[in-house]
Amino acid sequence: MHTPPSAAGFAPAKAVPGIPPATYHDPGVFQTEEERVFGRCWIFVGFTDDLVQPNDWLARRIGGLDVMVQNFDGELRAFRNVCAHRFAIIRRAPRGNGLLRCGYHGWTYDRDGRPYGIPGNEAHFGLDRAGRCSRALPPVAVETCGRFVFLRIAAEGPSLVDWLGPHADTLRHASEIFIRSFDEREMTWEANWKMGVESVLEVYHADTVHPTTFRKLVKGDWRCDYVGPHSRGVTSVSDPSARWWDGVAKRLGFQPSSILREYDHLHIFPNLEIGFTRGSVMSVQTYDPLGPDRCALRLRLFLADPGGLKGYGKGGAAARRMIEDTARDLNVALLREDQEESEQAFRGVRQTDTAALLGRNEERIQHFHAVWRNAMAMNGR
Ligand code: FES
Ligand SMILES: [Fe+2]
Repeated sequence: MHTPPSAAGFAPAKAVPGIPPATYHDPGVFQTEEERVFGRCWIFVGFTDDLVQPNDWLARRIGGLDVMVQNFDGELRAFRNVCAHRFAIIRRAPRGNGLLRCGYHGWTYDRDGRPYGIPGNEAHFGLDRAGRCSRALPPVAVETCGRFVFLRIAAEGPSLVDWLGPHADTLRHASEIFIRSFDEREMTWEANWKMGVESVLEVYHADTVHPTTFRKLVKGDWRCDYVGPHSRGVTSVSDPSARWWDGVAKRLGFQPSSILREYDHLHIFPNLEIGFTRGSVMSVQTYDPLGPDRCALRLRLFLADPGGLKGYGKGGAAARRMIEDTARDLNVALLREDQEESEQAFRGVRQTDTAALLGRNEERIQHFHAVWRNAMAMNGR
């Protein structure tokens, strides 16, 4: 059985070297990472909102493998997304609705991944029941926490709730507050996925990189805590920003979270980042590897909903749209700022053998590296 990655050996230190520079760009390291990190951890792929109707499906690439999850009469099931006939990728878009049918020769699969519809079966293949079963698509583990959907390539490992630890409660809570997404987008960064993750694990760069965006939002005090492979960072929302958001909540009549009152940021190892602003906005990001030197940042933004989804009253819908536009513009602007720095750092990391120096104010990156090293079994390297 695969051992899930842990933070064994981690203790925040004043300053420690980061992982070797080559680990950000070496193709061999990337290959190992796909197997040992992405192939073994629960990976967030989307929300149950995308899988509400029978035959709704999502497709992703995890650990170098094409996988898909589909609603079969109300039950989510996930499979490898490679046709058992002659290797075609079955689901070729990120999402959709329809029978699980391969576009190459039309083999159609059932809820157990078995091909039940094979054009010309009797004449050309003669597959009986046992033969069809032997051609079933390999299953992939799927579990949900609230409306968050996760897949795991490895057949064995901890349950999702065990994996998430106390953060499972946060995800369930957030699932009740943040019902409707108001923006969804994908951006390609010319940087290793770890650089994307690291860009959101510290606020040291807020003054220099985000003087007019993130820095205005928060006070910059930063409290971190760690559970297993995951980490959390909290900073107080600035007074003007807190007043603004409280006014928005009152104006729109929505109920912000009573627990997530500051800027609360969760990192769910390896690549899921969730930021909450004053309990009113939720930003969900993944940095999905596209290769050693590129990653896809997938972003989804939510605003808290009015209790019971009642209307907003006169002018409320327009006001909400205005707030959503403001929140979207802010989030996109600060991600562009992070993209610029991450891409520059990725250019730089290929020109050195000297590891980064991670200060005490970058302790979440120290933690991330400890977990990553354990996952890769690279301690001491
Ligand atoms: S490759 Fe899928 S049906 Fe032939
Ligand atoms: Fe940033």
